[in-house]
Amino acid sequence: MKPVLLSREAILAEMGIGPVWVPRQGGETPDAMAEAAVSTAPEAPAAPEIPAVDRPARSFPGRPAAPVNAPRPAAEAAPRVATPVTIPPGLSWPELRQTIADCRACGLCEKRTQAVPGVGDEQADWLFIGEGPGADEDAQGEPFVGQAGKLLDAMLAAIDLKRGEDVYIANAVKCRPPGNRTPEPAEMAACRPFLTRQIELLQPKLLVLLGRAAADSVLGLEKPLAAMRGRVHEYQGIPVVVTYHPAYLLRNLPEKAKAWEDLLFARRTMARLKGH
Ligand code: URA
Repeated sequence: MKPVLLSREAILAEMGIGPVWVPRQGGETPDAMAEAAVSTAPEAPAAPEIPAVDRPARSFPGRPAAPVNAPRPAAEAAPRVATPVTIPPGLSWPELRQTIADCRACGLCEKRTQAVPGVGDEQADWLFIGEGPGADEDAQGEPFVGQAGKLLDAMLAAIDLKRGEDVYIANAVKCRPPGNRTPEPAEMAACRPFLTRQIELLQPKLLVLLGRAAADSVLGLEKPLAAMRGRVHEYQGIPVVVTYHPAYLLRNLPEKAKAWEDLLFARRTMARLKGH
């Protein structure tokens, strides 16, 4: 999907943040104006200036797969047990993409059109992680190309990022959960070695987790998303921030102000990591 170039005004409008510009005597930086716009939102708590580090309760690769308990009609074939995929060490990007394309480690492979490995700059400092492909992504083979993707592009643009430029986008699961349901813990566990290898290859400076499923899969904290925002977590030595999933924001417009706050927090965190 081609990145859409939007003006800052259009981006903030897309994010549902208003008023967009707050003219003041003496002029303001765009950031200060954006912060001012956010501060008009009700119930938007200030993000801490010096982020606290919240380490995961459990480490990610050793996390056991939860059983798949969903009831199925008797006539249907026995459920496929999701087994964490085993991948050879040291896979390159092309090998990893091929292994993902061929994967049959869980039942999601049965109904997919194709696996959706991820997209972007393979040397990116930023890694955004969503939940799993939807119908549009399943059809096109690229993450976040539907309505939620349009909003994600606006979110990226709001902090001067662009799909494909210093940004990589991946999902907790690489195949579409039927009916766009949330992937089950066992499916995320089965797919996690792919995400782990993507992170190893990328060596990003910062992970941004979009929504509860991605946060559960990577951090394993099993807390409400609201409790995970506004602080820097850590995954295998890499700083992590958490925000709302764009699809959730499309259904809960007032939460866009909080997501905007999270993005500013992520940008400040990145600046700090780069020593700015
Ligand atoms: N939602 C996600 O979590 N990922 C996508 O790729 C698309 C929608």
